[in-house]
Amino acid sequence: MITRRTLLRTGVAASATLGTAGLLLPALTDVAQAADLDASTIPKFAQAMPVPQPLEPYSDDGDADVYKLTMKETTAEIVPGFRTAVRTYGDSFPGPLIQATSGRPVVIHQTNRLSVDTSVHLHGGHVPAKSDGAPMDLIAAGGGRRTYVYPNQQPHANLWFHDHAHHMESENVFRGLAGLYLLTDDVEDGLDLPDEEQDVPIALRDARFDSAGQLVYVMGDRLRNVVLANGKAWPYFEVATRRYRFRVFNTSNQRFFKLALSDGSAFQQIGSDGGLLPAPLTTTSVFLSPGERADVVVDFGHYPVGTTLVLKNTFGDQSAPTAQVLQFRVTRRERDDTEPLPDTLRTLPELPAATTTRDFKLSMDEGPATPGAMPMAYINGLVYDSDRIDTVIPYGSTEIWTVTNTNQRMPHNFHLHLVQFRVLERGGKPVTSGPECGLKDTVSLLPGESVKLQATFTGYRGEYLYHCHLIDHAAMGMMGTMKIV
Ligand code: C2O
Ligand code: CU
Ligand code: CU
Repeated sequence: MITRRTLLRTGVAASATLGTAGLLLPALTDVAQAADLDASTIPKFAQAMPVPQPLEPYSDDGDADVYKLTMKETTAEIVPGFRTAVRTYGDSFPGPLIQATSGRPVVIHQTNRLSVDTSVHLHGGHVPAKSDGAPMDLIAAGGGRRTYVYPNQQPHANLWFHDHAHHMESENVFRGLAGLYLLTDDVEDGLDLPDEEQDVPIALRDARFDSAGQLVYVMGDRLRNVVLANGKAWPYFEVATRRYRFRVFNTSNQRFFKLALSDGSAFQQIGSDGGLLPAPLTTTSVFLSPGERADVVVDFGHYPVGTTLVLKNTFGDQSAPTAQVLQFRVTRRERDDTEPLPDTLRTLPELPAATTTRDFKLSMDEGPATPGAMPMAYINGLVYDSDRIDTVIPYGSTEIWTVTNTNQRMPHNFHLHLVQFRVLERGGKPVTSGPECGLKDTVSLLPGESVKLQATFTGYRGEYLYHCHLIDHAAMGMMGTMKIV
């Protein structure tokens, strides 16, 4: 008989055989393979960046918007001249965009026509446990079905959905199972923000290709050296001389982005994971660890037509191709009728008093590697076990969690399902302004860093996850289960 446990073990064993080469002590063993596509040969800024368009509901006449999506393999032109096999929701790479409104439920009937089991999670969503896409709540390969209900009883936010099948999530997401979910409400709607053509979601990620243009997946891989924006390698995007809203999602498995314009110009950050910030923040960069989002407004009004600007990634090796993301081309003059941003964007809920504090220590094996050994990743010294409840939380309680990355070299981050939290402190210093003062569901943790978070666990009872959102690390075990009782 196949039990949950044997499934878990075979899963780990299979990928250990598959994944060892790229995993061990990355700095010492990461050597590009001759069979890899040389990223420097991919033409930069040669393809237009597509803008994800909202999916039409299959039905919207009842008390919910109903969608039908089929997960299947297809091909996409990611690198010019190559057709790459990808795993998709409804044939779309990256996945489709779903538009939702607070208070109106969305129902998605998912059918899995892939050859691997899947589970769909709405990242940042406040949803009942049975619709949260738990790692063992699988949709069977080859035609399995499942219906997910998203009540949308939460404020506006830029959410996204992605695979969460146990131990397969990192490969499934890498191969394309990620889509966008924009939830709006009256607060957001009431603001005069750039909209329509000037409201542009951008899903960023990295990837690695072989010389035939096919994706190369290795768990823990640090050789993913091609940057994709909305599914295209290093695209360009044409803009007019006016303000644009870019909703940026880091959907990478492991890459961190620190985004900046090549001329160093300032722009405004208006939102993060859980919707708008209390006030616009003038900045010259935004930092996004995997899973995080930034909502920014860039004004191209002061550039002459003909200007080109590169959106750069100033995090990591600046001589690597991954130091560039995409190119903006100012191609036409247009007048801008939007008002300047208001001083206040939203009012955040009061912080209730916390009754419990907890500590979470994130760690991962980091060299020297034993040949053939598979690094494991831990929370408080334990590798994820789907049969274990790590944290029991009384329904409705408010807690303060101190989360620390105890590694010397490995960056991590921390993502909580079910709730949006507040970042109280980073490195012992209070967070009272800046990009982390809004509602968050994912926080970065560079080596040695520590953050203090506050969350109120309300709305639904049941089992939910918390984990590192470098999803290769989550698949290696850096994940835990909390049970709201
Ligand atoms: Cu975006 Cu548990 O995940
Ligand atoms: Cu999540
Ligand atoms: Cu990690």
